[in-house]
Amino acid sequence: MAEPDLFSYSSPPPPETRIRELRSELERHNRLYYTQATPEISDAEYDKLFRELEDLETKHPEFADPNSPTQRVGGQPIEGFQQLRHLVPMLSIDDVFELSEEGMKEAGADRPEKELVDFYQRLRKGLGREDIAVTVEPKIDGVAVSLVYRNGELAYAATRGDGTTGDDITHNVRTIRSIPLSLHSKSEIPALLEIRGEIFMPNEAFAAMNAERDEAGLPTFANPRNATAGTLKQLDPKITAQRPLAFLAHGLGAYDGPELSSEHDFHELLETLGIPRNHPVIDASGLDEVLAAVAEIDKLRHDLDYGTDGAVIKVLDRAEREKLGFTSRAPRWAAAYKFLPEQKETKLENITIQVGRTGVLTPVAELTPVLISGSTVSRATLHNQDEIDRKGIHIGATVLVEKAGEIIPAVVKVTHAVEGAKTYSIFEEVDGCCPSCRGPIAQEEGFVAWRCTNFQCPAQAVTRISHFASRKALDIDGLGGTVAEALVRHELCHTPLDLFDLGEETLADLNLGSDEAPRRFGEKNAAKVVAALGRARSKPLDRWLFAMGIRQVGESASKELARLHETLADVAKSQILAELRKDTRADAKKKNEFLAAYQISGDVGPAVAESVTMFFSSDAGRHVLARLDELGIHPKAENFLPKPAEADITDMPLAGKTIVLTGTLGVDRDEMKRLLESKGAKVSGSVSKNTDYLVAGEGGGSKRDKAEKLGVTIIDEETVRGMIS
Ligand code: IVH
Repeated sequence: MAEPDLFSYSSPPPPETRIRELRSELERHNRLYYTQATPEISDAEYDKLFRELEDLETKHPEFADPNSPTQRVGGQPIEGFQQLRHLVPMLSIDDVFELSEEGMKEAGADRPEKELVDFYQRLRKGLGREDIAVTVEPKIDGVAVSLVYRNGELAYAATRGDGTTGDDITHNVRTIRSIPLSLHSKSEIPALLEIRGEIFMPNEAFAAMNAERDEAGLPTFANPRNATAGTLKQLDPKITAQRPLAFLAHGLGAYDGPELSSEHDFHELLETLGIPRNHPVIDASGLDEVLAAVAEIDKLRHDLDYGTDGAVIKVLDRAEREKLGFTSRAPRWAAAYKFLPEQKETKLENITIQVGRTGVLTPVAELTPVLISGSTVSRATLHNQDEIDRKGIHIGATVLVEKAGEIIPAVVKVTHAVEGAKTYSIFEEVDGCCPSCRGPIAQEEGFVAWRCTNFQCPAQAVTRISHFASRKALDIDGLGGTVAEALVRHELCHTPLDLFDLGEETLADLNLGSDEAPRRFGEKNAAKVVAALGRARSKPLDRWLFAMGIRQVGESASKELARLHETLADVAKSQILAELRKDTRADAKKKNEFLAAYQISGDVGPAVAESVTMFFSSDAGRHVLARLDELGIHPKAENFLPKPAEADITDMPLAGKTIVLTGTLGVDRDEMKRLLESKGAKVSGSVSKNTDYLVAGEGGGSKRDKAEKLGVTIIDEETVRGMIS
């Protein structure tokens, strides 16, 4: 090798070279950590490399790359989803079901796996052979995606959509750590690679995220699939980056690369390229082996870290797949075998009534414990009175219980009734009173659930306090579900307004843990909460109305109520709401004449009017008004403008104007929205011919295009500020 010249030791590599080095090194560590689970460096060392790359990229924007590992924290929000056409359609798979006893009788089947056997027979017939080699793997309960790599670089990612076109979700997919942004391989990298797979939230990470959200006072997700789907619909990838999404590949779309003759070759390719793939995959040939493999997956699936309710069976050989071909909606060479949820008979010993956090009374079956799908079941929800009636449920009966996937156990039906027993009645059992507070219960019109109507019911205290403190209500930073729960448990708060009586010291001493393992809330957190409570005192009327958690009164209704009324007292004795509640048939004309001047939006109608009126005329409502008076809290509407047409134009320069915001503004978009609304504007999310102005910050693509097309006036932030100052 030639002697190095004098300078090569002292001068650092040119930035472009170092940037390239760092990117490939960071992606390699990413692969080692997320795909191979064999990390070579510590988190701190990774962070150091990451920061070096970030610095260089900031100094040299000319070398920016959307596939740089720095983009995993999320780039700019997008304005809306573009549609992308899949290179090869994303088909679904035909389901074949495990049959229940009834199902078997109906189909004249001699075994639960009949539909699976039929599928295998079709393969035999199609290929004219007995033993056809297949693979069997778990069916992932996630959201299907298609990833397109061109020359080893992630080009884009799309949802399934209608199978032909889907949403472009590249901005979100880039934040998923287990998805490589650039492929790395010692052998040939395919020029084109369209990978199909599922994005999902691992069960444990999902549970941890939900617990954290609850603590922060944010709404929780119903299940991992919903959480995944909701996250992928985010326009802002910075939010997605904070959610624990994962990816596993299971299929191939368009492809231009080294020959793949079987599913094994495909798996090998994924492994060489560092793309995570689904496990376990069992090889099987011949009907007996297929049935055994499916039974094995059924056993193993309970230990996987994602939800699954079936096994996917695919023909191994790609040439054989081609021979079998497709129906109009699915390949003939694959099937998804859906497991029957395991069911057991047991005795219904008792029914207890739980009062939920929103006051709903839920009947719960107390059962003689039975083992179902690997865990003991001793309780199951009975949902509501309708369900109980439909199934004729009564104490002492023998019932059939099932547990499907991670879903909570359910009572399917009564198998042996107690002779002469009467169907259980919730109302009779609790004597018309809430089991938690003895307050009255009611069944709202159109709802089947019985609900406790007492605002002070202790079973509802935690929810009411969490809601009161949540970001969109009074934004009491630091007061989430856990703190609310501890405050109620230690009897420091019964209703949200009790928060204002708490001293900083009491709060600091609050034990969030248990007696055995105490955990103090602490001075710093206490000070934060007290400061936020101080700020809440002067929050506008709409935020207070929303915070009160009056049924039917959400964010938009609160805003509209605050436009129509200046103070809480005005809402409590509102003429407008009284008119809205009136039966239209009696004197529709008069009612309409009265209401016309107020130009009331659809957000406040008779149901809202009814609910608000009931609330303020109840003991609870009167108590709230009196307590607020005592506390010296008098929320005022900042968007008060009851009769837009007659309004004082000098104070409301944007009255009657519909405005849409786009691009990056100097202030937070929510803040700008509030400012404009306080000046009488209606701020809408999308441009239409009714839009008066589009306020455009930096960036802003599709809304600007639409505004231009419709001839909507486009102004900048400075101009709109000039209009209101
Ligand atoms: S193979 C031609 N394997 O389930 C389609 N799909 O209900 C071949 N899915 O569209 C797909 N886990 O989105 C395959 N291990 C797995 C899967 C799987 C989940 C999804 C996939 C498919 C849908 C059909």
